[in-house]
Amino acid sequence: MAIKPTIQQLKANRAAFERLIAHAESSVNEEPEPASVGKDFTVVSRTRPIFEHEDSFRIIYPHGRTVTVHEPTLHFRADKAKLDDKSFTLNHNFGPSSSNEEVYEMIGTDFINLPAGGGTAVLFAYGQTGTGKTYTVNAITKLMAQDLFNALSPTQKVVVSFVEILGDAAYDLPSHRPVRIMEDKFSSVVLDGCDTRDCPSPEAFLEMSETALAHRRTVATLKNDTSSRSHALTKISVLETDPVKSAGGASEGILFLVDLAGSERAADRAAHDAARLEEAKQINTSLMTLKDCIKGRARQGTGAHLHIPYRSSKLTLVLKDIFELATVRPTRCVVVACTSPHAADASHSINTLRYAQTLMSAPKTKLLAPNKHDPKTWSKERACSWLTAVSKGALNVADMLPNEGDNGLVLSQLTEQEFIERATRSGKVDFKRAKAYYVKLWEFVADARTKQRKAVLKARDKTAAQKEEDQFHKELIARSAREAAGWTGRDKW
Ligand SMILES: Nc1ncnc2c1ncn2[C@@H]1O[C@H](COP(=O)(O)OP(=O)(O)OP(=O)(O)O)[C@@H](O)[C@H]1O
Ligand SMILES: [Mg+2]
Repeated sequence: MAIKPTIQQLKANRAAFERLIAHAESSVNEEPEPASVGKDFTVVSRTRPIFEHEDSFRIIYPHGRTVTVHEPTLHFRADKAKLDDKSFTLNHNFGPSSSNEEVYEMIGTDFINLPAGGGTAVLFAYGQTGTGKTYTVNAITKLMAQDLFNALSPTQKVVVSFVEILGDAAYDLPSHRPVRIMEDKFSSVVLDGCDTRDCPSPEAFLEMSETALAHRRTVATLKNDTSSRSHALTKISVLETDPVKSAGGASEGILFLVDLAGSERAADRAAHDAARLEEAKQINTSLMTLKDCIKGRARQGTGAHLHIPYRSSKLTLVLKDIFELATVRPTRCVVVACTSPHAADASHSINTLRYAQTLMSAPKTKLLAPNKHDPKTWSKERACSWLTAVSKGALNVADMLPNEGDNGLVLSQLTEQEFIERATRSGKVDFKRAKAYYVKLWEFVADARTKQRKAVLKARDKTAAQKEEDQFHKELIARSAREAAGWTGRDKW
């Protein structure tokens, strides 16, 4: 029987383990499989170098699409050094000598161009503390800035927000004001309270990013002098500024760059005080939810009843598009699994790579066709003709949608109060009728949403997904009731 060696045993047997690893690696002589880019998920691993001050030896070796962890073990009785090799297949694996430019090149232009085309692109790095997540995400942020702007059409603009998430709390990074992460009535995720800043150029973006991320919570731990103690999210939105195109329903493109806080083993937490332990608990809880969502997403479509608990943590709620099996916008995700090269971290690295590999079998996302009865997709012209038809000409469309870029989305986003105030402004429509028109519009919105959810649920496993959906409806109704209770405008009529 083989046992896992202690740190002392690793040190005592270091020469023997290094010999075994050298021997195993010398027999890997086939040409490494070339890198590949996944359709919806591109999953890569990256192992950082061992630093001079670290008294350890390397056990992770990438060979193109395969990465091998030579896990050191000892024979139970004879204390004989042995290796338990574990190999994983991803789209590509980067070793200690790989540069940030190589990692960036692998991500591919399709991914960087997606936001300009109205899609959602998500990049996240995850793995043990001190393995190079912040190093990698920061480098990719710098490398992609110019390309992101190059992909824009002359009428598109970029706005950014920076959020840090710690457990169920979220903050706008530069101002440290609290942010509420929630779903709106269209089940889109909103970052309520978060500043969005116009970014005219790649240089301006990088300056903002540097200033914002400098506010992020970091501390010195046993593993990392500047360990990130929160998840940092950069949300880059690409918006259409041409009123004609946006009135025609051109959709917002999004790029999320996510630098997760690292997971820690018990040994990494040895020097933590109570506050740090609580922090570590919250980080590990949200990372567990992320892992559950990854597992669920990968196994969807296998016929098993699986639940994707993305509403269980704020982190996964923000990223929910990547866990859906059917979406209205094209979605792509790049995952960088960061690992430590050290022998002592073998089991943590194996765990990280195992989750990464799980995503390789995720079924393809289904792209849902836009629903022409959905008010969100209506142009201004279409929205105005609906308003005229529903009110038999009584509604003044110029009061309802007064601005140049207004469209069906703007109309559907009006609160009940705003809608009624606009509808009654001309004096031709009273409160009761205005309310009836609002309800009619809401029926269209709800119907479109139900159709979309049905298509999403059809692609997913029914029971658990339906439960989630029921829960969401309950919360939505409760929230609407709270909002309505806070509005006293009705008393005027
Ligand atoms: N590929 C690499 N090449 C050179 N140095 C690296 C590499 N990856 C990481 N480092 C260095 O290792 C240290 C730890 O990296 P980093 O802070 O990015 O880890 P992390 O995964 O973000 O950790 P945490 O989860 O604690 O935030 C930093 O000093 C960083 O510069
Ligand atoms: Mg970090």
